[in-house]
Amino acid sequence: MYWYHKETKHSYYSVRSNPNQMDWALQPSTYKNYPDSFKKTELDKNNPWHGVIYYTASISTKKYYPHGTHRYLRVNPSAGALYPNELYFQARGVEGFDDGIYHYEVASNRAVLLHVLEGSEGIEPYMGYETAMKGLLFLVSAVYYRSSWKYRNRAFRYCLLDAGHVLGSIEHAALLVPHSTSMKYDIERKKLNKLFGFSHASSAGREVFLSGASVATPLVEKVEAVQFELAYAEGSGTFEENEMMELAYKQTSYLLEKQPQHEKANLYYEKTRLKESIVARRSQRGFEGQAITKLHYTRIMEALTEPIPSDCDEEVELFVVLNRVQNMPIGLYHNGQLLKNADFSQKAGYLCLEQYSLGTQGAMTFFLLSTAKNYQALYQKAGIIGQRLYAVTSYLNIGCSGIGAYYDDEVNAFVEQEGMVLYALAIGR
Ligand SMILES: Cc1cc2nc3c(=O)[nH]c(=O)nc-3n(C[C@H](O)[C@H](O)[C@H](O)COP(=O)(O)O)c2cc1C
Repeated sequence: MYWYHKETKHSYYSVRSNPNQMDWALQPSTYKNYPDSFKKTELDKNNPWHGVIYYTASISTKKYYPHGTHRYLRVNPSAGALYPNELYFQARGVEGFDDGIYHYEVASNRAVLLHVLEGSEGIEPYMGYETAMKGLLFLVSAVYYRSSWKYRNRAFRYCLLDAGHVLGSIEHAALLVPHSTSMKYDIERKKLNKLFGFSHASSAGREVFLSGASVATPLVEKVEAVQFELAYAEGSGTFEENEMMELAYKQTSYLLEKQPQHEKANLYYEKTRLKESIVARRSQRGFEGQAITKLHYTRIMEALTEPIPSDCDEEVELFVVLNRVQNMPIGLYHNGQLLKNADFSQKAGYLCLEQYSLGTQGAMTFFLLSTAKNYQALYQKAGIIGQRLYAVTSYLNIGCSGIGAYYDDEVNAFVEQEGMVLYALAIGR
């Protein structure tokens, strides 16, 4: 087991001996804005290529809290609504964008032109492509202090899960074009971090690239690695270094023995309803103990088990506790097979750090595990699976919540399998 994962486990005792008191007035900024000297273009969600970005990461609601405070929530979920990830993309040969490299400014829904592509240059070589790619190439970064401010050392897990959710959001938004998506983990992190100004001495490590995605098709023209110099734009306002997370990032930045997945995913959604369900998606704060149908179960499992095309497809195992699915035996399932037939609803809620309104009251509780090697790739894959679950349940009008807080070792003991517990999710009504 990777040492960072081991060091950041939750247990019944750790959460009690180390309670987290938050002063929300001190929360770091969740927005990154480049200076207005850059050209900024508002995205038109009716333009299919703009839509890929809009339906991946835009603001979709304003949530009010007691005492008159409010926060803006986005189409993509994020642990604690801290949104540690930033989205960059290269557009080439697509309607609505000049060929160039952009940052998505979430706060204003604008694409910020960082660099105009000239001649045969492009970002492709940093992502492992030899020829030019027509379409959108994405890069996902993490401004880690946004998350470590609350989740401390465990936050690298959340940065990766949330990045996986962004990748999964790209996958679903691209269905609206329609276009398939392929994930890229073997990106030249060091060179890209430098290129985008993330490694300036004064700010080094605050923002780092985690992955990429391609919503594009290869052309025949050769392409040369683009060079430019960007000043660092601050992404969190305040900052405190986290040595453990920075070390984990560095150690896991080079991939070992990667196995690509070339098979495309068959995800069936009707476009108008998909758009509506992306914008309407929310995390349900608790379930009322109502069942879902067997048809729902089948549709959901199909979406989760379709291949996820990528350059490094790590094995992630799916365990599910069925609490209430009509005409299905209750109990613990692994890859669709019933392992233990009993009522584990209390246990499932307990394992999710006693979030009983989710794990116990829900219809199904998922646990994702892995024994694979490429930590950044396997963790982001768990996030993509999580996003597929959010997407299909929102489409079917079923509630869903990601659960990043669970008792790691006790989940292992319950499912009787070793390995790293990556994520839990609950769905229901
Ligand atoms: C990786 C991840 C972990 C999460 N963990 C929890 C959790 O343990 N408990 C919970 O109630 N919600 C959890 N959530 C839900 C977030 O709090 C929620 O996505 C965020 O507040 C934004 O709200 P929205 O999903 O309705 O847009 C998690 C979400 C993600 C993506």
